[in-house]
Amino acid sequence: MVELENTQKFILDATAGYRMMWFDKQQVNTIYVDNRPECNPDVVADFTHLVTFADNTFKLIVWDPPHEIRYPTDPNCSFIHDFGFLKPETWQSDLRRGFRELWRVLKPMGVLIFKWNTKSKKVKDILRLFPVKPLFGQVTKGSAGRRKHESKTYWFCFMKILEERSETTMSDIIKESKKGVKPHLLIVQQIIDKKKGGEKQN
Ligand SMILES: C[S@@+](CC[C@H](N)C(=O)[O-])C[C@H]1O[C@@H](n2cnc3c(N)ncnc32)[C@H](O)[C@@H]1O
Repeated sequence: MVELENTQKFILDATAGYRMMWFDKQQVNTIYVDNRPECNPDVVADFTHLVTFADNTFKLIVWDPPHEIRYPTDPNCSFIHDFGFLKPETWQSDLRRGFRELWRVLKPMGVLIFKWNTKSKKVKDILRLFPVKPLFGQVTKGSAGRRKHESKTYWFCFMKILEERSETTMSDIIKESKKGVKPHLLIVQQIIDKKKGGEKQN
């Protein structure tokens, strides 16, 4: 297992491909992973089985899996060369297991950015495979997707929010902020109190 705790590598691109979407293709804080060695990733690995990385490793993960769900009929197809493909018989379990594995290596409060193009499957068919809902998402505007039946590219943002945080309601935050207590200190205090309560019971 690669030890990353004391390194500056806190971003994971789980499907780096040829890094076309990166402004800096050698971004120093990023580990570039792909299952195709020909893309020259830092680590050749499968996003469904990232044994190289410990739990809670990355602050930011970007996941842009192939959205072609078919075997290539033409071996010279440039689209498949650039972006790869998912197998028709395993795409659902691959995406389901991929999400679970990326969630495992994401730090608490870390962010997962997921990209999907609707060429083969609608967004609702993909999001139902994941156990967590995205916080928000956006369809990109461009030439693709302008016409009704053209595919569209979506970006989604997921965050691994700690359960404890949901106990603080908006009215708690407003009440406390009126007293001059910063909301994030209130949340930290609640977590400490909860831990202390648990310790006493043990
Ligand atoms: C849509 S492309 C990514 C393009 C990339 N974001 C870019 O900017 O160029 C999808 C990539 O996922 C890779 N891939 C497919 N299945 C994978 C898997 N199980 N594990 C890791 N990478 C995979 C493909 O090899 C392909 O390079």
